[in-house]
Amino acid sequence: MAELFTDKFFPKTFEEFVGNTESVSFVRRWADAWNSGTNGKPLLFYGQTGNGKTCLALLVAKLSGWDLFELNASDLRSKDTIEKLAGAASQGSSLSGRRRLILLDEVDGLQARDRGGAGAILSILRESKNPVILTANDIYANQKLSPLRQSSELVQFKKINYLSIAKRLGEICEKESIPFDPEGLKELAKNSAGDLRSALLDLQALAGGVSAESVKLVGGRNRRENVFSVLQRIFRAKTFGEAQKARFESEVSQDLLEKWVEENIPVEFTKQEDLASGFDYLSKASVFSGRIFRRQNYVLMKYASDLSTAGVALSRNNDYHSWAKYQFPRMLRILSSNRAQRALKTGLCKKIGEQTHSSSKEVMAHDLAFIKMLFENKAMAPNLAAAFELDEKEIAFLLGTKPETKKVKTVFGEAQLLREKSIFEKRKALAGVEEKLLKQIEARKSETETQEEPEMQEPEEEGISKQTRLF
Ligand SMILES: Nc1ncnc2c1ncn2[C@@H]1O[C@H](COP(=O)(O)OP(=O)(O)OP(=O)(O)O)[C@@H](O)[C@H]1O
Ligand SMILES: [Mg+2]
Repeated sequence: MAELFTDKFFPKTFEEFVGNTESVSFVRRWADAWNSGTNGKPLLFYGQTGNGKTCLALLVAKLSGWDLFELNASDLRSKDTIEKLAGAASQGSSLSGRRRLILLDEVDGLQARDRGGAGAILSILRESKNPVILTANDIYANQKLSPLRQSSELVQFKKINYLSIAKRLGEICEKESIPFDPEGLKELAKNSAGDLRSALLDLQALAGGVSAESVKLVGGRNRRENVFSVLQRIFRAKTFGEAQKARFESEVSQDLLEKWVEENIPVEFTKQEDLASGFDYLSKASVFSGRIFRRQNYVLMKYASDLSTAGVALSRNNDYHSWAKYQFPRMLRILSSNRAQRALKTGLCKKIGEQTHSSSKEVMAHDLAFIKMLFENKAMAPNLAAAFELDEKEIAFLLGTKPETKKVKTVFGEAQLLREKSIFEKRKALAGVEEKLLKQIEARKSETETQEEPEMQEPEEEGISKQTRLF
């Protein structure tokens, strides 16, 4: 398996970093200032996912000759980590004698109840003798971030322009000898909605060639639909929160997501032990999904969702970095090709049930097989087809053949004739009844008229005719 494009094409120089040029220059000046002895304020990188926040922080450290002390917001829950952080911040250089960058990634995950809540972090950062970078997606969504926001310099990371993304993807295609058409590449870039990580992952999924057609297969206009990158983020999550975040950012239904995870556990987890534990968690998730469906209790959704994503991801003992070619769920392929067939069967049972006064479920369970047998009888089939008013597809289903066959056409034709005949006869019979009724009405009318004769001599009320009174 190949290396992930996000690792393989991780920028090595500031020039290779795509977009947000002003922010890059600002950060470079800040780093140079630190190196020449002027301690700068912590920087808070913020903006949408996948546009290079963590990437730029790592790049700055590398190109400034700094070591790295990296923590994720969820690591800050333990007292130990906080102490380590305080240590790193208070010592001017690491054991190697070099300065180190303190990177607190994804601080929007901070919780008030965390031991290392914003307050604790803040007091450490204020005293820091080392450069500090914090990253977050949305610095205004979480109130806890307000003090951090105030004591840092804010550095915004905007969505990356799609043309810049397309240019970068083009360079990669050339290096990797991936055939591409420039329009397809632009489409891919647009679909990524300014998120270079997702664009790189899509490109890797399309390594066979980038064309307008193939781009459509990977994801629609709405990048949230792209299940490939969601899956990858889920499988590789290191924390519960990361997996949850990836899951929430996708719009795939729980049911569908479980199918994708199921199909791709073996693709991602190549070690036996992880394979087993991954499936174990997935089966726990599907127990809840079943309950949700049966009891219509959506409160349980959270369990199903967490177990099938974070549960599966964190159950692994090994980390996987190579690129995995995720598969479209086989089950879905089978189901979608059978969907039309199922709809046909249900419709057929309903039709039969209407005539036999039973529910379509009963017909499906008991009568259908019997009717199929009766259909084998040449004389019987047209009668049944006429009685149930079956169309060619339904007849074909009962005969176990295709609608275009001669057999189906004959049964359908004969059934049509029978129906026309029966309609004609019904009409004839009805006409007889109609005639009789008309005669009866006439007779009754003349009877009433004779009885009401005397009243007719009274003066009529204005506006009410004789006819109206009679009825
Ligand atoms: N501006 C960029 N220039 C070059 N490569 C980039 C850029 N942005 C993202 N990448 C690529 O995408 C990968 C993911 O980007 P990164 O981890 O920096 O995203 P992020 O902004 O931190 O997202 P999140 O908010 O989800 O943490 C990087 O490893 C890198 O390969
Ligand atoms: Mg990041």
